[in-house]
Amino acid sequence: MAVPFVQDWDLIQTLGEGAYGEVRLLVNRQTGEAVAVKVIDTSQGKECSENVKKEICINKVLSHPNIVRFFGHRREGPTVYLFLEYCSGGELFDRIEPDLGMPEREAHRFFQQLIAAVEYLHSVGITHRDIKPENILLDDKDNLKLSDFGLATMFRHRGRERRLNRLCGTLPYVAPELLSKLEFSAQPADVWACGIVLTAMLAGGLLSKLLRALPEERLSISELKTDPWFSQTLTSSSSHNKLLCSDTQLHRNNSDRVQFSSSQPDPALGVCVWEGSVCVGGADQVSFSQPARPDNMLLGSQLLGTPGASQTPWQRLVRRMTRFFTTLDSSASCSALRDTCIDLGHTFKHTCTNQVTVSTLDRRNNKLIFKVHLMELDQRVLLDFRLSKGDGLEFKRLFLKIKQKLSDIISTQKIPLPVT
Ligand code: ADE
Repeated sequence: MAVPFVQDWDLIQTLGEGAYGEVRLLVNRQTGEAVAVKVIDTSQGKECSENVKKEICINKVLSHPNIVRFFGHRREGPTVYLFLEYCSGGELFDRIEPDLGMPEREAHRFFQQLIAAVEYLHSVGITHRDIKPENILLDDKDNLKLSDFGLATMFRHRGRERRLNRLCGTLPYVAPELLSKLEFSAQPADVWACGIVLTAMLAGGLLSKLLRALPEERLSISELKTDPWFSQTLTSSSSHNKLLCSDTQLHRNNSDRVQFSSSQPDPALGVCVWEGSVCVGGADQVSFSQPARPDNMLLGSQLLGTPGASQTPWQRLVRRMTRFFTTLDSSASCSALRDTCIDLGHTFKHTCTNQVTVSTLDRRNNKLIFKVHLMELDQRVLLDFRLSKGDGLEFKRLFLKIKQKLSDIISTQKIPLPVT
């Protein structure tokens, strides 16, 4: 797909991808503003162009602190660019530890913000129709931002509400009435999806396994007792920790023990030290950034006032927990990753010099595709995993499996990175 010709805007990295195309990070060379651009290829047909028009129309209506801001759009032949608020905190699914969830206090705060976004959306007569952790982003202050209005639609106009009949969304988040009824109300369907998101945040899916409609698929007590969330011992100090640490991240260390640690770099220290060194330095240190071509300019004044202007370069780099540094060089790291993936029965392909694509099936036999970017940073190699297609939590689960298998070559050294 072509790089948009945007004067003075550098393409920094691909943030995500989906059936529509890609979302990329653009940073203004002069002002330091950061925006996400969703690149949609509408050449597949009329329906696709109509869907994009609807997405733009809906985005234009929306204005809420928990909804990704829309700055404008630009069309170039069959390609449409949507300019959106950049959320450097990454995706909610990345904060959910499979089978464990996240600290309850954090989940509670995210859930309140999600409900605020959905309540607003419904008040203006719009339903999202694809609420799931992959469509929930976080900004630099860990504020939740509902994103991707590609499936959204209007269910109320001038006070008149219509019932919906289109079955759309993502299966694990789809309300039962969508499968059993020809017509259904829009709002309760979004509420169900919010409930599933809450379930994932609190117990990484356990609850939904207990609530399966088919009795033969429902978890038995013996299975329940093997579940990591159920069987964890909650001491008074650990629940106290959960209440105190609103800015903590639940993660495993190499010995697989659950621990809490600060996930936010302390700007006052002038350095950034994250577990697993998930943070890279300034935007200019990212080896894969490309200069934009000085060509016909996009939007101009429509981009003024983007919140990214006040961010430091490291704040602009998207936060991801699905990364680690290795103790080997790039080629040996790549071979170790390839061997592990092949051992696990996955398909492993080099897509370009420093990127591989891994394809497999998840536990539900759904396609799961992710990319691994190998970057040399500060004389170490960072393996950065990003979901391309499939379920976010299944991707996280697989990432943890691969990480555990590669534990011998994972660097545990924490490198302080200068703030540029
Ligand atoms: N991934 C998809 N959309 C994004 C956005 N607006 N900011 C950061 N990452 C994203």
